[in-house]
Amino acid sequence: MDRGLLICCAAVFILVSDVCGECNRNQWQCYDGVCIPHRWHCDGVGDCQDGSDEMACSCPPKAFECADGSGCVTESLACDGRAQCSDGSDELDCDWRSGCLSSDWKCRNNICIPQNFLCNEVNDCGDNSDEETCGSCMKMKIRCSDGRCLNQREMCDGVAQCTDRSDEPHTCGKSCRNANGGCSHTCVDQTWGALCNCPSGMTLSANGFDCIDVDECSQSFGPCMHLCTNTPGSFRCLCQNGFKSLGNGSCEAQGFPVKILTFRRSLIGLVNVKTRVFEPLLSIESDPIALTYDIQRNFIYWADNHGNIYKAYNHKSMVLYSGQPGVRSLAVDWLTGQLYWTSVTQKAIFTGTADGSSTCVVISKDTDPGEIVLSPVESFIFWINNGMSEEITIERTAMDGSNRTTLIFVTAQIPKGLTLDVAARRLFWISEFKMSIESIRTDGSGSYTFWNFFQGSPGQSLAVFNGWFYWADEKRLWQTPQNLPPAKYNEFLLKASLPVLTVYHELQQPQGFSPCKNSRCTLCLPSKESPVGFTCLCPEGMLPVAYGSCENFKVAYATAMVIYSLEFTGNTTIKTELFTSDEDIQAFDMHWKRGCVVWCNGTGHVKTNKLSQDMSEYILTLKPGMC
Ligand SMILES: *[C@@H]1O[C@H](CO)[C@@H](O)[C@H](O)[C@H]1NC(C)=O
Ligand SMILES: *[C@@H]1O[C@H](CO)[C@@H](O)[C@H](O)[C@H]1NC(C)=O
Ligand SMILES: *[C@@H]1O[C@H](CO)[C@@H](O)[C@H](O)[C@H]1NC(C)=O
Ligand SMILES: *[C@@H]1O[C@H](CO)[C@@H](O)[C@H](O)[C@H]1NC(C)=O
Repeated sequence: MDRGLLICCAAVFILVSDVCGECNRNQWQCYDGVCIPHRWHCDGVGDCQDGSDEMACSCPPKAFECADGSGCVTESLACDGRAQCSDGSDELDCDWRSGCLSSDWKCRNNICIPQNFLCNEVNDCGDNSDEETCGSCMKMKIRCSDGRCLNQREMCDGVAQCTDRSDEPHTCGKSCRNANGGCSHTCVDQTWGALCNCPSGMTLSANGFDCIDVDECSQSFGPCMHLCTNTPGSFRCLCQNGFKSLGNGSCEAQGFPVKILTFRRSLIGLVNVKTRVFEPLLSIESDPIALTYDIQRNFIYWADNHGNIYKAYNHKSMVLYSGQPGVRSLAVDWLTGQLYWTSVTQKAIFTGTADGSSTCVVISKDTDPGEIVLSPVESFIFWINNGMSEEITIERTAMDGSNRTTLIFVTAQIPKGLTLDVAARRLFWISEFKMSIESIRTDGSGSYTFWNFFQGSPGQSLAVFNGWFYWADEKRLWQTPQNLPPAKYNEFLLKASLPVLTVYHELQQPQGFSPCKNSRCTLCLPSKESPVGFTCLCPEGMLPVAYGSCENFKVAYATAMVIYSLEFTGNTTIKTELFTSDEDIQAFDMHWKRGCVVWCNGTGHVKTNKLSQDMSEYILTLKPGMC
């Protein structure tokens, strides 16, 4: 079926925020001032709007050019841990080569953990390598904040063993009888001096006598399910709209019953998690490999592995897009109704209108995307990316492809089933290697592992909502509460193999303001950088005019009596008479945006005409006959 699909050009999005500033050390500055990652300079693909990043490239293709222009470094030597450039620029921005973020520590089994998880008496790696070099603090009871253990004799010996010097507090040699040992709260005498203690909600600062507030909200998981505000000595939890606070930090979804959208035996349908009944909605011909929905507009979307993306409305389905090879995952911007998807064969993230009329590439640079989820209320896209050197990462970008960052390296985890708890602002996924469910906040903080989640074989699909995990293994659908140890509390929901599933609930698609509401462009992408809050994409052949609308490419030409415009739309050309005159048009210029023409008549008098009104105005020039 051909409904005149318009494919737009692959727009390249770049960071325009620092147009007027300096670029940082990892970046290269285009001649127009825009900063791009230094790796993109002279990589054979134009990234600057003015093409300057691929001009004057003195290094052979793929070689790295030192930031100070001092030389070229072959690809294999860049990021090898040793600086070849005199300014060291070949060793910057190298997270992808080391396989973990620079703020992470790499376990023996190659799992990445945040550096502050080292020596915290928790086996965060799974192979305990993060706790092995810390020594045992069991008897000694003195532990530096960096994890090192000390014996009593090393306390107050005049040599700082802990990196924060907490083994040499200002209370060394002091006694509690004397001005409370200097303690701000309680004081306990020790052989080495006065030990200050703090009430709950506070912790001792490194100086040894001041108690300072604990930021409970900075814990990697909890104490609040949704929103957390730290207060002196305590914290406050709040729930998102539509959820009821249970008083203990938990929030409970109100409204419609929780359902799981999935497919089974050639039927797309909903599983009510209370009644455990599968309610069929549609029959389908080929099994979906991806499935999503727009609850407000009552659309269901799915994709098969024959290049088709389908849409269903009121139990009727249609092919929305065909010829989309390798679709891997689908997601909806429920605020605008626009669809997003990833393609493993085209190695790009696409977006398309809900009516099937236009598609466009959002990101194709340095990406090989797998599963994708959207957070339109935050204007973010998240996806599992198969990157350079076979590194697998979870990436985040604004919905127009700008502000891209790597949130976490998950290569060794073998991740799948990426999903978003929209209310909790948390991503969750299955780690096949760790047999766990993993989570981070949408800002990249709060890395957390639900250990020993899977017994036997790991789940193949996952959804998270309202404090529950919904997941399916090869044979069954289960639900498990987040706050109780798994395995024991798995509740059986349905006997079926469900490789694709998602929670269907209005609170997973909360309504809110979209910057695209006021745009008139064919495809509108919310942006973090554009001053109007969105980027317009125009189908091929059309050009974005100002902010917010697309126009066909137009040219104007004149005969002695008439000015014409030629508008190129898809495969036809429309010729329009813009203006006629019997004064012998000598020269003219168009002001498309204002809709007027400036022209010269046969005796060299300059005139201007507004095209909408048949009115001519004479512009007085000093010397008629000069044009
Ligand atoms: C909070 O309270 C509810 C209802 O009393 C209970 O079901 C739930 O398990 C509690 N959550 C936590 C994290 O303790
Ligand atoms: C986007 O990136 C720019 C610089 O690259 C930064 O200044 C800006 O704060 C970022 N915006 C968001 C919302 O992260
Ligand atoms: C292009 O031309 C073909 C055949 O002439 C026609 O079927 C199709 O609808 C046209 N497309 C557009 C966008 O006008
Ligand atoms: C050009 O415009 C001037 C001023 O309106 C007019 O006097 C003159 O006759 C025009 N020339 C021609 C060739 O019509």
